[in-house]
Amino acid sequence: MSAPNKSFDPVPVAALQPDAIAAAVEQALAEIAAAGSLDDLKAVRITHAGEKSSLALANREIGALPPQAKAEAGQLVGRARADVKKALEARQAALEDERDAKALSEERVDVSLPWERDPLGARHPLSTISDHIVDVFVAMGYEVAEGPEIETEWHNFDALNLAPDHPARTMQDTFFVEAPDAGLVLRTHTSPVQIRSMLDREVPIYVVCPGRVFRTDELDATHTPVFHQIEGLAVDVGITMADLKGTLDHFAIAMFGPDAKTRLRPSYFPFTEPSAELDLWFPQAKGGPRWIEWGGCGMVNPRVLAACGIDPDRYSGFAFGMGLERTLMFRHGITDMRDMVEGDVRFTAAFGSEL
Ligand code: FA5
Ligand code: MG
Repeated sequence: MSAPNKSFDPVPVAALQPDAIAAAVEQALAEIAAAGSLDDLKAVRITHAGEKSSLALANREIGALPPQAKAEAGQLVGRARADVKKALEARQAALEDERDAKALSEERVDVSLPWERDPLGARHPLSTISDHIVDVFVAMGYEVAEGPEIETEWHNFDALNLAPDHPARTMQDTFFVEAPDAGLVLRTHTSPVQIRSMLDREVPIYVVCPGRVFRTDELDATHTPVFHQIEGLAVDVGITMADLKGTLDHFAIAMFGPDAKTRLRPSYFPFTEPSAELDLWFPQAKGGPRWIEWGGCGMVNPRVLAACGIDPDRYSGFAFGMGLERTLMFRHGITDMRDMVEGDVRFTAAFGSEL
């Protein structure tokens, strides 16, 4: 009897039993499939594919086999380890996809969405400047008066001493409502509110009248067919041109600062006598302080007082009117009046807050 020949006689090794390997693979595949997270899978990988896994152990034991058994055992273990590795990779990929999909849906940012779905607009600067001017006059005891935008020719012209054949009637290019003989116009200035105020109110009268007016002017950098004026009217005993001047200077300073002042140049309006063009000394003007045409003014024509039932021998008054777009242009250094009518919120937002 010879002793067992270690090189040739197979020594049964438990870890290399096909059943044991199949069981290890089955166990590994089941746990891989059950791994619900990447962390779970990492633990499964250590258990079933790590250094201390039963398949790694089996692999190491191959070395102890006799040469003729090595090939078969190597194939067996190699296939088993490859199966486990493949399953691990597939599960890893699946879990990563799941994680990414979740992150994409949970952390989604739509960069094309506007940052503010309902941006607040701003009041139009014409509204804010109109309010500002009204405040200045209300503080001096004036009341706010209003009139219709569709006005009778009588209020817009006749009562203001502009008879139908008066050449000055063509000074303001008029929109007529329906037939020219219907007697209705879109008011060409806020001066008809003077008439309505004098007819409606008792003297003394101190009113300021902001409003929209219309002329058949082309839209360009300094004109618009729809624009705004603010009218002032004071009727009382003993009102003189000095009151007008003092009031306008106060107004200019309130609007444009302590260095602002006004200048009157002789002019003509049928409803005032004497009449003046009103210039503003505008200290903040771009390109240096200078005189700027602001509006018209004068002492209320006695014929207008009489037309409104006010005794011109007892009472006198002054009136003035200026364009709000103009006022806004030089107050804010706006060079094109068209920006004011286009309604772009970027313009409104920039100029709609009072400084
Ligand atoms: C008048 O409208 C007179 N009612 C002003 C007045 C009132 C005089 C009270 C005396 C007493 P005038 O037509 O010049 O005047 O217009 C006054 C201002 O309106 C102008 O100085 C200008 O600032 C503005 N304005 C006139 N036309 C336009 C236009 N198309 N677009 C924008 N502003 C205009
Ligand atoms: Mg004028």
